[in-house]
Amino acid sequence: MSTYGQVDQRLENKLKDLYRLHKERAAKIDWSYHSFLPLEIVSGKFPVRGIKPIPTTGDENMPREDLFERDIMASRVKLKYDPATQPLSWETYLAVETALLTEVNLPWFTTELYNTFKGSLQVLVDFVHTWTSEEDQHSDLLETYLLLTGNGDVWERRKLRKQVVEGGFETGLKTPLETMVYTSIQERATMVFYLNVAQACEAEDPALARVLRRLARDETLHYTFYRDATKAHLEVNPNLVELVTSTMLQFEMPGRGMPDYKLRMEIIAKNVHYGPAEYYTQVVEELMKYWDIKNLQPTYPEAREAQLKALQHHDRLGRIAQRQMRERQRSITPSVDEMLDEHNFRIKQAGNPAGQLALAPNGDIVAT
Ligand SMILES: [Fe+2]
Ligand SMILES: [Fe+2]
Repeated sequence: MSTYGQVDQRLENKLKDLYRLHKERAAKIDWSYHSFLPLEIVSGKFPVRGIKPIPTTGDENMPREDLFERDIMASRVKLKYDPATQPLSWETYLAVETALLTEVNLPWFTTELYNTFKGSLQVLVDFVHTWTSEEDQHSDLLETYLLLTGNGDVWERRKLRKQVVEGGFETGLKTPLETMVYTSIQERATMVFYLNVAQACEAEDPALARVLRRLARDETLHYTFYRDATKAHLEVNPNLVELVTSTMLQFEMPGRGMPDYKLRMEIIAKNVHYGPAEYYTQVVEELMKYWDIKNLQPTYPEAREAQLKALQHHDRLGRIAQRQMRERQRSITPSVDEMLDEHNFRIKQAGNPAGQLALAPNGDIVAT
């Protein structure tokens, strides 16, 4: 078997050190998602919209399971989502829901990581176990926060969540090293996303900002492990830059399979400030510097070529980022198609398919 992209066995002790450090840091900031929920609103009368306590008395002849079923169905009928009374702005809600639909990929992500790391070094498999136990709280916290604060349509969200989990997620990564590079980018991108959304929603909902910052702390530790594991490999063998470049160039977030992903990201970039500009300045730029891609000394011609490609990719992203920043400042008027796409998406998100608009051949905007 080719050793290219495989874990360098000489780095076993280094990886063990990184894992030990991770466990120490994680233990210092150990937390439970319950601490970040507004539980005071559920004490007493259970006033959360759309939820009723399960009756303890009632039809004595009805089996307990049927009572539960009847109650659930009753709450479903009562729950009529009204976007006008939703506490969060539509854009912030969309960003949090998008984060949730990314976090729910965890079972598939664990499968991917486990499959690429197993057979390499036990310390990497151990890390995946620890990582999974930490990630496990993330979707719980986001989902429960949205539920308790009466944000979004619970049933629509459930449908979306089920659809995403059922759809699964595959990165196509083949080797442990590609996986380390991919997860370095993904963890950093997730961390930046949470921090930027937290900043954007601070005034609107400080408790939500706190939730997002808490999640970002976990992502920071995950990022640090993978980033340093990759760095250790590049130091031992700079020719691995070829693999770093190919993984960087093909990078896509785990959430890309969710419905309307592209549209979601466009709206988030415009309103919640996480888009190509932030991806470049806060993710790619940081990793290019940390891994010192520019000054690596690969000896294989293919690796030197890849190094050049990575630097060109970096420059290209920089130009895209600058353009996006300029467009934001000039507040570009969206095209009619962009406005209609956003309008139709809002309507669909609100569970109200009637009211969709389209552009007729004569240029009129018509109801569909
Ligand atoms: Fe996460
Ligand atoms: Fe993470």
